[in-house]
Amino acid sequence: MRTPMIAGNWKMNNGFAETRELIGELNRKFSCKIKVSIAIFPSFPYLYESSRLLDGKAIRLGAQNLHWETKGAFTGEVSSMMLRDVGCEYVIVGHSERRHIFKESDEQILLKLKAALQAGLHPILCVGETLAEREKGSMEQVVRAQLKGLSELTPEEITNLVLAYEPVWAIGTGKTASPEAAQNMHAFIRRWIRKQFGNYLSDKMIILYGGSVKPENIRELMDRPDIDGALVGGASLNADSFSAIIQGACETVKE
Ligand code: PGA
Repeated sequence: MRTPMIAGNWKMNNGFAETRELIGELNRKFSCKIKVSIAIFPSFPYLYESSRLLDGKAIRLGAQNLHWETKGAFTGEVSSMMLRDVGCEYVIVGHSERRHIFKESDEQILLKLKAALQAGLHPILCVGETLAEREKGSMEQVVRAQLKGLSELTPEEITNLVLAYEPVWAIGTGKTASPEAAQNMHAFIRRWIRKQFGNYLSDKMIILYGGSVKPENIRELMDRPDIDGALVGGASLNADSFSAIIQGACETVKE
């Protein structure tokens, strides 16, 4: 039995005022333990304040990126140790915006995954194809190549990892993958994990869907057997829509 997760990737949004307001509302709505785990991912400057505001509450904290070195002359970068220090438990690695805008390679992404795991963080590794790749029918090939580095990780490390399938054409576009199309890719990813690491780890692996998730489509997505939650961008910036997604996810959890 996997505990579903709803993660809110704030991207480069929300200053102090919005951070305080949004966390205040989420704390009020989700003060006790519920059936899904919740995590938010503010920008670096607001992580410490967020950790303070979330203290002892049901919502976990994560960062949107990290550097693979622990310290040193890397101007502008933030290490896994620093993220731990300010209260993060999660970190997003390999988001498509990092891959495409900042040209992060699979090799760099693997270094980041290893650094995060070594520091005791749970990385959320994002994979997914572009529209051109989907139209060519090469989505499985693309995702397989993005997953390849995981074969260097130990089974213990794999238990601390979360995966997110995020088709690039669905991110921020309002075009969600159909539940069937998303389920097919999630099943493909779980089969890949099973082949590499066996049944136990593949059955335990949390695989989130990301790409224009909203209160209206969370239930039909999470009703599918291999979709264990969502990585939400735009709709996580508003307390009402993010809460409605969390409520919707809770309703899909079988007792
Ligand atoms: P979106 O973003 O929900 O705004 O499509 C998802 C993501 O980039 O993680």
